[in-house]
Amino acid sequence: MTDPKQAEIDYPAAIGEEGRAWLRNKPFHHDPRMTSRLLIDFGHILQILDLHAGMSLVELGCGSGWMTRFVARHGLDAHGYDISPEMIEIARELADQEGTQATFEVADMENLDLGRRFDTALLYDALPLPQQPQAPLRQQPARDRRAHCRAARLPGARPLLDADLAARYGAVASEAA
Ligand SMILES: C[S@@+](CC[C@H](N)C(=O)[O-])C[C@H]1O[C@@H](n2cnc3c(N)ncnc32)[C@H](O)[C@@H]1O
Repeated sequence: MTDPKQAEIDYPAAIGEEGRAWLRNKPFHHDPRMTSRLLIDFGHILQILDLHAGMSLVELGCGSGWMTRFVARHGLDAHGYDISPEMIEIARELADQEGTQATFEVADMENLDLGRRFDTALLYDALPLPQQPQAPLRQQPARDRRAHCRAARLPGARPLLDADLAARYGAVASEAA
């Protein structure tokens, strides 16, 4: 059986040119429903984490870094980490092309000592689930996701999980109603 972490590392190489083009264009160049879901998620993240220019943010499992780069464009001091060197290479290249001041490093979030504090942390569609690696993230009980997040030992960070986001969408909508 393939080591799940190795599979994450190899993922960008395994998905072919079309898959890598999506990684580069994310959240755009997909069907309107997917692109709008991602953009709406980003909007909610801005709102729920109350992200203001000048704050610091770390994203773990940032992939090709679209959210980290968006956050940097919003004026934050933004840092993305991912276990896959190829993802980080793409993220750095895109940040360079855009002139975005975000930094990207290769790291395993389960064995990571960031050595500093951030105002906030983001794990979006990227939580490692060693207890039930086959189960999709959204089917995991929230308490397991939170336990894994705590296990990531984020110093002083307030983690936001995408499943929690979904739970909060209702609250945001009803406040607006
Ligand atoms: C589904 S992708 C999502 C990437 C990004 N958050 C996004 O929304 O585009 C999950 C990412 O988590 C990364 N990842 C998985 N396990 C990790 C770990 N232990 N440490 C750091 N990154 C990890 C993968 O390499 C992959 O880039």
